[in-house]
Amino acid sequence: MIHVIRTNDPGVRKVLARDAFKGKNLIGRGTYSLVYDAGARSVLKLTIDEPTYNMLRNAKHRHFPRIRLDYGVVGSIAMNQGEFPLFLVKMERLLKLPNGSKAKRLATALSRKVLDATVRHRFCWRLILGDIVGDKAVPQSIRGAVKELAGYCESQLHFQLDMHVGNFMARANGELVIVDPLMDRRVWDNRLEDERRRFGNSQSPQGLSVAT
Ligand SMILES: Nc1ncnc2c1ncn2[C@@H]1O[C@H](COP(=O)(O)OP(=O)(O)O)[C@@H](O)[C@H]1O
Ligand SMILES: [Mg+2]
Repeated sequence: MIHVIRTNDPGVRKVLARDAFKGKNLIGRGTYSLVYDAGARSVLKLTIDEPTYNMLRNAKHRHFPRIRLDYGVVGSIAMNQGEFPLFLVKMERLLKLPNGSKAKRLATALSRKVLDATVRHRFCWRLILGDIVGDKAVPQSIRGAVKELAGYCESQLHFQLDMHVGNFMARANGELVIVDPLMDRRVWDNRLEDERRRFGNSQSPQGLSVAT
């Protein structure tokens, strides 16, 4: 996996030296974010994924995570063409989708539908999300959340949908939560360009995984 955000990056280290992170354990990570334990009810999410951050700070629907505190821009990472901002939010703590749960089945079905629609509509997010909103087989509350997501997409630049099953989580009451539905194309492209410069063009993306 390529990590656009790395714990040993000088920009990230500067942020992690802040009081907010003292004594906090890293409990999750993906391509764009580091997630730290912040007590029984909350986590701190440090992310370079601007479209997802913008969506999270505005999200209202119950199928999106609840944000407890928005710290805004807390630092930056230097990549290829410049400095890219790092955003920090304190958000509700969620659970991995329990195996065999209704939430997991729903997330799996939804991610497949998004994948099918992505192929059918050649990555056009408006058509993809429009299909989900209009799909009577999808529970109405989820369709409402996807409609809200489509609204946020209208004001985002350089993003792609990223609704694979790993980007869904659940609340203790079993409710499905869409955690991380977008990805930032611009930071991805800049990280890849960075790696190409360092390691040469022959390197395949799979070979670019760097220890963190
Ligand atoms: N609210 C949360 N509560 C608990 N763990 C979380 C939460 N959000 C994310 N995580 C953990 O962190 C991982 C990465 O989070 P994600 O939002 O998908 O980041 P990325 O932008 O890197 O894909 C998730 O797979 C999950 O294990
Ligand atoms: Mg993710």
